[in-house]
Amino acid sequence: MSVSLQQHASLQPFHTFGTEARAAWMAVADSVDALRSLRMDARVRDLPWLILGGGSNVLFASDFEGLVIRMAVRGVEEVDGDTDAWRIRVGGGENWSDVVARLLHSDRPGLENLAGIPGTGGAAPIQNIGAYGVELAERLHSVTVWDGRHDVLHELSPEECEFGYRDSVFKRDGGGSGLPGAELAGPGRVVVAITLRLPRRWAAVAGYAELERELRARGEERPGPREVFDAVLAIRGRKLPDPAVLGNAGSFFKNPIVSREVHAELLAHAPSLVSYPLAGGRYKLAAGWLIDACGLKGYTRGRAGVFEKQALVLVNRGGASGREIWELAQEVQERVRERFGVCIEPEPRIIGG
Ligand code: FAD
Ligand code: EPU
Repeated sequence: MSVSLQQHASLQPFHTFGTEARAAWMAVADSVDALRSLRMDARVRDLPWLILGGGSNVLFASDFEGLVIRMAVRGVEEVDGDTDAWRIRVGGGENWSDVVARLLHSDRPGLENLAGIPGTGGAAPIQNIGAYGVELAERLHSVTVWDGRHDVLHELSPEECEFGYRDSVFKRDGGGSGLPGAELAGPGRVVVAITLRLPRRWAAVAGYAELERELRARGEERPGPREVFDAVLAIRGRKLPDPAVLGNAGSFFKNPIVSREVHAELLAHAPSLVSYPLAGGRYKLAAGWLIDACGLKGYTRGRAGVFEKQALVLVNRGGASGREIWELAQEVQERVRERFGVCIEPEPRIIGG
């Protein structure tokens, strides 16, 4: 089998910041065989590889001098479950929010808190997507990974994925360049499918304060999956920009986690600080609040800006370059560090930062 390769390809249509950037080579892979064929192709096999799903968590601060592979492995199918849960295998190239809606529609609830998150099934485990009180890790049976260095398929359990808050083993993968943080050339590990685990006994997860408020406002005292789904989409629609209208990658920074001592010190100086206690005495700080408190909400630098309704989101105000957005991000980081002494780390993968 051979896969067609495009040279000097524009990436602009394939990522949600919508900035102009080029890939030295680009291909679409709809199967493991397609990945294998690229692995054998002398033009690209020794270059850095970058797997691209929906491009909703990536910033191209420069061109990519390697091979971009657009993930297009499809398929959503129910596989053998057990008495407690359904198992659904989702191809790495499936659209995540479509899958959530489709499963809900066919009486397979459990993902409604994760409704409306852009991107693909294959990218979902990379940062362990999360929203409104649920993380992917809690609904996952396994991740099917093609190890391009050795051309083998592995089925990883959630434990083997070492999931954390916006984190997984894939983000720390040093070998192979297909994944975040990896610098070596050639194919790395590619998520070709994930298998979800959806408990048959459904229970609403409605404790997230904003979701609870929304459900109450809608008069939903005992919400079902559809009501949670609708409420989550309504909240998201109010405060997150639609990438089709205003380029963005969702939260640009992760919420930083600090010790009890640092938290107490910050609170002494900023009593309205928004934070959440974690197990083990540490605290997660709302990075959006920190940026907002620096007076940066709505700030514009060149053609890049801090979103007016949610300071954690950086936007392309029209025609921005990836470099401009990256410079704005660094300025925001610096201002938060100066004011609070806290380092906020980018959430998206930065290419050429
Ligand atoms: P991409 O941006 O294409 O890739 C992201 C990273 O994963 C890259 O490093 C890429 O190389 C790697 N990757 C992608 N696919 C594969 C694969 N198959 N195998 C190996 N590596 C791969 N995230 C949340 O967690 N919660 C939210 O609530 C949320 N809200 C968002 C709202 C908006 C408006 C936007 C624009 C983004 C939001 N995000 C959120 C971030 C983003 O949607 C998720 O991180 C999503 O999982 C990214 O999917 P993607 O397919 O677009 O990944
Ligand atoms: N806040 C402000 N000013 C702002 C923005 C936020 O004061 O400009 C305050 C809010 O009032 C709130 C707190 O900060 O008290 C937290 O804000 P929000 O509820 O909007 O959540 P977040 O922490 O900013 C996180 C995720 C989102 C996810 C939501 C819901 C991260 C980095 N972000 O946002 O995920 O959808 O919670 O669970 O964890 C993403 O990862 O791209 C993303 C959008």
